[in-house]
Order: sequence, then structure tokens, then C-alpha cells
Amino acid sequence: MIIAIDGPAGSGKGSVCKILSSKLDLINIDTGAMYRCVALKALENNLTIDDKDKIIDISSKINIDLKEDGTILLDGVDVTKKIREKEVTMIVSPISSIVEVRKNMVDLQRKIAKGKNVIMEGRDITTVVFPDADYKFYLDASLEERAKRRFIQNQEQNIEMSYEEILDNIKKRDYNDMHKEVGALKRIDSQIYIDSTNMTIDEVVKKIEEEVGR
Ligand code: DC
Repeated sequence: MIIAIDGPAGSGKGSVCKILSSKLDLINIDTGAMYRCVALKALENNLTIDDKDKIIDISSKINIDLKEDGTILLDGVDVTKKIREKEVTMIVSPISSIVEVRKNMVDLQRKIAKGKNVIMEGRDITTVVFPDADYKFYLDASLEERAKRRFIQNQEQNIEMSYEEILDNIKKRDYNDMHKEVGALKRIDSQIYIDSTNMTIDEVVKKIEEEVGR
């Protein structure tokens, strides 16, 4: 079974998928974390967004391990927290716009999911990675609510970013993520649309469970 969930930054995909994966016994694949690993590795190699070929090269050889408990290993090193830091968050969207990087990540995502029951979240899962997924959702929330959620989440994880910085970053990422040449975030008729602005995480989880009949 494949459950595919797309939506903008801060819409609650991460929290919802974590709960659903354990409730429904599915493997949780956070594709945003994969793009973040490419961005982190580019930063560690002192690359900028102009070093396109080198970034593509990184994406073709990258060794990412998404552990069941949510830990993310990059070349065997735990980068779970590091990939959420400001520096990575600032450059991940332009890096994920590089068409060849996307191709490499989509190949990897399909490979990881092969033969397994998965819940996969991102921006292009319902449209590009698994357009024939059993269940397809678009999880949304207002810009202000998403920035508020991300601000609280960052505070819990001791990540330094002001509310205004987050709001501005999410706004820019929304625009960039929705205007990509390939793999743009978009709404399509076959997705089940959920606006979580006034919903709790548990309510969203329940709604998805109802839709998948579990
Ligand atoms: O979900 P996130 O905020 O961790 O994702 C980080 C960035 O990666 C996001 O700005 C867009 C990009 N991304 C993407 O282009 N395609 C995906 N399937 C997942 C994320």
C-alpha cells in the first residue's frame, strides 16, 4: 500500500505521517529530509547554488538512511537535527529545483519504497513519484498557521529562527516549490484535500484513517 501526502512547508505532513506510520504499520519516507541531506552536503562542501554540476554529482552518490525511529543518517552520520537548521532551510528549495537533483531523488524514493507498504510525504509524491498511489492527499493550512507551527517546532528543537524569518522563508519556499520546472507542488483532482488550519494533528490523523478505511 502506498499513501502519498503532498503539501506546503508547515502543513503538518511530518507529524501526521509519523503517527500514521506507526498506527498503520507503514514505512515513513520523508522526502523533504532527503533534499535537505543534499543541501547539507552541498554546504559541507562549501558549494553555492551556482555549483550546479557538483550538487548534481552529490545527489547521484548520496547515501541516506531513513531509520524507523525517525533518525536520518547521511553517510552513516546522524544529521536528524542538522538538516532542520537555518542554513539548510535557506538553500534547500533552490537546490530541490535542479531538475537532475530531482531525477536522482525520485529514483531513490521509488527504490526505497519498492515492495514495501509506505507513507511518503513531500511536494511531488501524488503527481510524479507515485501518481498511482492507493491514497493521495494534499495537506494544507494558512501561511500564518504554518509559520506559527514551524516556530513552535523550532523552539522545541532549539533551532534559532524568529517568527518573521520563518514566515518570510515559508513564503519564498511556497513560491519556489509551486513554480518549479519539474515536480512543482500542485493540487490535482485525484488528491483528497485537507485544510488543517483549524484542526489538531489528531483530527487530521483521524480524517486520513477514515479515508483509507482503517
Ligand atoms: O518538507 P520540507 O520542508 O522538509 O522540504 C524541504 C524542501 O525540499 C522544500 O522546500 C521543497 C523540497 N522538496 C521537494 O522539492 N520535493 C519533495 N518531494 C520534498 C521536498
